Amino acid sequence: MWQLREYAAQRSLYRLKEADPHAWVLPRLWGRAKSGMAAVEFDEYGGGRPERVHARLFADLMTDLGLDATYGRSLNAATAEALATVNLISLLGLHRALRGALVGHFAAVEITSAPASRRLAEAMRRTGAGSAAEHFYDEHVEADAVHEQVVRHDVIGGLLAEEPHLAPDVTFGIDVTGHLEDRFADRLLGAWRAGQ
Ligand SMILES: [Fe+2]
Ligand SMILES: [Fe+2]
Repeated sequence: MWQLREYAAQRSLYRLKEADPHAWVLPRLWGRAKSGMAAVEFDEYGGGRPERVHARLFADLMTDLGLDATYGRSLNAATAEALATVNLISLLGLHRALRGALVGHFAAVEITSAPASRRLAEAMRRTGAGSAAEHFYDEHVEADAVHEQVVRHDVIGGLLAEEPHLAPDVTFGIDVTGHLEDRFADRLLGAWRAGQ
């Protein structure tokens, strides 16, 4: 349980504003890529229901785990590796020239989310973390199976049909996401294995 709580606190710097940095790319896309991106973001923002906004669901998870869900509360406890994953999204989202990499980042997150969320949902059940804690990850198993298809076919497919020269940028966005996530995982698992 203490490991789940630490993981949630570190992740909260992104999860409590989930989907926001990705929304910056919407005015920088056209056609299929834009409508696909907007469709996925509509789900991330609760599909018109405030209680289902994913950032809200994560705040409820934090409450189940006994954590303070105020944004930025965990900033001083966050590792550099966790902060780097958040900085990356802001950087890619804020620059039009990096729209291809932002799309690559979004794709990497959505495509890897369902299997990872399934394991985290099991961990929440195993530890008796609470129904909101389970629900956040159960919701992502279901939603991201659909998001994966939309991101692959409409967002990446649409963007590269429109702007094929952005293919290396999309690849960069995917690679840098994997690189920073691996670094974060190594730091966290390394500390836990060392009993810290
Ligand atoms: Fe989400
Ligand atoms: Fe998603």
